[in-house]
Amino acid sequence: MNKNLQEGLVLLVGNDSDIVAHMTRGKFIVFEGGEGSGKTHHVRFSQEYLENQDMGIITTHEPGGTQLGRTIRETILSTTHTPVPTAELFLFLADRAQHVETVIQPALQDNTTVLCDRFTGSTLAYQIGARGLANPEFIMQMEAYSRKQLEPDLVIYLDVDPKVGVGRKQIQPGHEMTNFDDFDLDFHTSVRNYFQKLASEQECWVQLDANRTMPEVQQDINSLLDTLFHGTSH
Ligand code: TMP
Repeated sequence: MNKNLQEGLVLLVGNDSDIVAHMTRGKFIVFEGGEGSGKTHHVRFSQEYLENQDMGIITTHEPGGTQLGRTIRETILSTTHTPVPTAELFLFLADRAQHVETVIQPALQDNTTVLCDRFTGSTLAYQIGARGLANPEFIMQMEAYSRKQLEPDLVIYLDVDPKVGVGRKQIQPGHEMTNFDDFDLDFHTSVRNYFQKLASEQECWVQLDANRTMPEVQQDINSLLDTLFHGTSH
């Protein structure tokens, strides 16, 4: 069963000992979701929410959270190149390796909280779930290697109906067509199914219904953040 908000809150409170164990490093919070799930906005709202509590925060994203990563992002997303799915996988993993080692880990070691738009879950949902690459176990091992086994403290999965999400994305101001816009509804449905599977299996994942309005979703996210940082939601 997917963890909804209530179950997620209970789990985070129950994790007090883990919270203490990680006190010497910043928290690593990942936002996952399909196209148009609102991740990018919610990362920004969450940053503002935590900064108002005087917390040291950085926000970052994949692909493209480093200078090298921005080149990789352009290569993957531009319509100039058509990487085959295996090449695409390695580009995402190269982006992650550079990102973890040069941005995420140093920030966490500096006791800074990191809010990251996409991480492991996206590779599993898109490359294994939707692209259907063979040898999923092997891919999972390589993926773990690319991030030096670093695990998030919390993954907030924003679950959106692909019809709603893709529709939202197409009317976004400044939205440019990329390689990923050509996919049909079946592709996005496979991505969603895999995300839901991860949310039901992985302990640190909480699934929120992102078909709702942004303020409604953000209210739930704030409760999760309160619980993670203060052990209770206001
Ligand atoms: P964006 O939605 O953050 O702009 O991400 C660009 C695309 O990259 C998006 O369609 C999801 C895809 N993606 C993967 O396929 N695998 C990955 O590992 C990551 C991080 C993103």
